[in-house]
Amino acid sequence: MNQTLREAYRGFFDIGAAVNARTIRSAGELIAAQYNSITAENEMKPERVHPEEERYTFEEADAIVAFARANGLRMRGHTLVWHNQTPDWFFEDGRGGKAAKEAALARLRSHIRTVVKRFAGDVYCWDVVNEAVDDAGQDALRATKWLDVVGPSYIAKAFEFAHEADPKALLFYNDYNESHPAKRERIYALVKSLVEAGTPIHGVGLQAHWNLYDPPLDDIRRAIERYASLGLRLHITEMDVSMFAFDDRRTDLAEPTDDMLALQEERYESFFRVFLEYREAIDSVTFWGAADDYTWLHDFPVRGRTNWPLLFDARHRPKRSFERVAALAEAAKRGSGAGGASR
Ligand code: GLA
Repeated sequence: MNQTLREAYRGFFDIGAAVNARTIRSAGELIAAQYNSITAENEMKPERVHPEEERYTFEEADAIVAFARANGLRMRGHTLVWHNQTPDWFFEDGRGGKAAKEAALARLRSHIRTVVKRFAGDVYCWDVVNEAVDDAGQDALRATKWLDVVGPSYIAKAFEFAHEADPKALLFYNDYNESHPAKRERIYALVKSLVEAGTPIHGVGLQAHWNLYDPPLDDIRRAIERYASLGLRLHITEMDVSMFAFDDRRTDLAEPTDDMLALQEERYESFFRVFLEYREAIDSVTFWGAADDYTWLHDFPVRGRTNWPLLFDARHRPKRSFERVAALAEAAKRGSGAGGASR
C-alpha cells in the first residue's frame, strides 16, 4: 500500500492507534507504516502496572515503549487515574476498612510519580484523569472510590502530581460521550474549574467512541468549540465508529452489510472534515485499535457480536473509509478544502 494515513495527515495531526502486547506483533507492520503515535490499550493502567502496593509490573508496558522507540512512534500515556481497572488496595486501610484520605493521596502521588517518571521522555502526554464526570444524575462527578476516599480534590491533585513528576509532559482530562450536550457541559465545567484554579492541565481528550448514527456532527462541532474555548489543546483519543446504534442488539452478521460500509465511509469522511475544520485546536487523532481483526467492540457490549469500527479490515487492507479519509487530507493540503467524493 503506498498511501499512508500518517503521511496524508502530516502537518495536520498525529495519527495514533491503541495497541496491546499482542497487536504490536499481529499488526506491528501495519501500525508502524500507517500510524505515528500509539497508546497502550490497557498496559499502563493502574491494575496492570501496580497490582500491589509494593509491586510494580512494567514488562508489557516496557515492551510497548520499546516498540514505539524501534519504530519512531510517539506515545500517549493512558491512564493514571480511573474508577475502573484500579486495584482496591489504593482505597483500603489493610484492616478491612477504608483508607484515610491522606494515605490514599500519598499512594496516588507515589503511583503517579513512579509511572510517569519511568516513561518520561518516551510518553509525551498523559490522560491523567479518565472519565471522572457522571453521564447523568444529580451529581456532576461520578461516584467512585477516589471521590469517596479523597473527595473532589483527587482530580486536581492527580494533575499536580503528574506535573511534578514530569514537568514536560502534556496533561489531559479524557472522557467519553464528550459530544453529548449534557455531558459536554459537565466536562466543560469541571475542566474550566481546573483551569481557573491554576491546575497544570493542558488538554482535553475526546474519546470519540462513536457509531453510524450518533453523535450528530453539530454536537461534535459544539463540543470541540466549547473545550477549545478554554484555551486547551484537543486530542481525539479513542476513536472508533461502531456499525451498531447504541441500543442495537443484533448478533446475526458475519460481515458488515454494504449499507453499513457505505454509511461508515460517509461518517468517517464527515468526522475528519470536522477535525480539519478545527485543526488549529486539534493535534492528534488516535483510533482505539489498528484494524478490524482486533477491537474491544467484538463481544462488547453485545456478546457474540463482531464489529468493524476501524479504517483497515480484518486482513489489514484499507477500507473505502480509509481512502475517503486520506483523500480529504490530500485535498486540504491542496487548499481546496473539500475532499474526495462529495458528502
Ligand atoms: C474507555 C477507556 C479505555 C478502554 C475503553 C474500552 O474508553 O478509556 O482505556 O478501556 O474504555 O476499551
